[in-house]
Amino acid sequence: MAHTDFNMDNQWLPFTPNRTFKQDPRVFVGAEGMHFTTHDGKKVIDGISSLWCVGAGHNRRPINEAIKKQLDTLDYATAFQASNDKAFKAAQMIADMAPGDLNKVLFCNSGSEAADTALKVALAYHRARGEGHRNVFIGREKGYHGVNFGGMSVGGLPANRKVYGAQLLPRVDHMRFIHDPVNHAYIHHEEPVWAEDPLLELENRILVLHDPSNIAAVIVEPIAGSAGWYIPPKGYVKRLREICDKHGILLIFDEVITGFGRLGVNFGADFYGVVPDMLNFAKAVTNGVIPLGGVICRDFIYDAMMNANSPQHAIEFFHGYTYSGHPVACAAAIATLDLMKEENLFARAGQKGRVLGDALHNTMKGLPNVVGIRTLGLAGAVELASIPGSPGKRAYDIFMDCFHHGVWVRPAGENIVICPPYIVEDAHIDQIAQTVADSIRRHA
Ligand SMILES: Cc1ncc(COP(=O)(O)O)c(C=O)c1O
Repeated sequence: MAHTDFNMDNQWLPFTPNRTFKQDPRVFVGAEGMHFTTHDGKKVIDGISSLWCVGAGHNRRPINEAIKKQLDTLDYATAFQASNDKAFKAAQMIADMAPGDLNKVLFCNSGSEAADTALKVALAYHRARGEGHRNVFIGREKGYHGVNFGGMSVGGLPANRKVYGAQLLPRVDHMRFIHDPVNHAYIHHEEPVWAEDPLLELENRILVLHDPSNIAAVIVEPIAGSAGWYIPPKGYVKRLREICDKHGILLIFDEVITGFGRLGVNFGADFYGVVPDMLNFAKAVTNGVIPLGGVICRDFIYDAMMNANSPQHAIEFFHGYTYSGHPVACAAAIATLDLMKEENLFARAGQKGRVLGDALHNTMKGLPNVVGIRTLGLAGAVELASIPGSPGKRAYDIFMDCFHHGVWVRPAGENIVICPPYIVEDAHIDQIAQTVADSIRRHA
């Protein structure tokens, strides 16, 4: 198939430079296991699990079969004032996998919706307890919580925010970023030990400025994924939990990327041994095959909302989506989680993560323009020196070049991010690392 065989005039592509896309389009028409097939018949290795989604690899029969079966049984049913058997089952499986008393699952359809859902739960929860004045949210610089107004407001990626500034949520502050490019540019599967405590800023400036009694929630990604795989210093996540506990502030983990196996365990919460009050998920829960997201809440949040002083027939939380708990998406989630368990894929992600970490550090440390490499779990980022006056161009050029050499990676600012499916083999890791390394050399 030539790309002249299809009309590219009508789709406005998301997070893509549309003006140049058509000059050199990337069009996928098939996928199997670790690989895509392009419109002109080339095989391209999926080095980013199709944006952190496809943990179990592409075109997995058990997931496809479960979806087909569900379509023939219950295609869709309204989500309000009713539910379906698959939504109950998926919620139970997810709650069973989540740590502590994270037991109540509110379904939505994406990570962006999960972010806004969690922020709304936080406000509603505090109000139900008579603390409606708690309405300040704290995010973190370079955080990513999707593109809806709530998530964008607590998010901290400047390019995603700058056009929408006037309409971002008003009572939001941001903690400082968690990267030390001088002492910890290279992180090889360890938690960096910082001499200073970055959370002193939260305690001594941000909480003081707003007064802790006004703060509804802190939201963070355990590891900053979309910004380019930035790993917090040792002890950071635990201390964040302690600070939130001390002041009655809800702690939300956005685990849209770190959830469901990327770190070799169920969630980032397990990796860090910290139970948040809410945990957002999406992407890998269905292997990316059907959109599904959600927020897992601790029991006390649900209980407070149920005990609100309202009549029994009244809805307790005025929120939800037409497709919350969609039976086909939930059937996909059930099949995905069963498959991940059956093939022990989370543990495999942990093991292959070590191989990936070694490969990225061994092949790329010391190459021209490489200024940092960070690996943990089955993911890594190679940071490149910015071209003066052209931020992001080097990573973009290398991404395009890698595509032409059969490897799909992700440019994120000045980073090349690599996060393959959990089924990845050592030979794939070698191919990805060598291809990126060669491309970095070509662009020196
Ligand atoms: C941490 C995090 N939160 C939210 C989102 C947004 O998810 P979606 O694109 O499904 O809305 C993403 C997407 O990458 C993410 O990484």
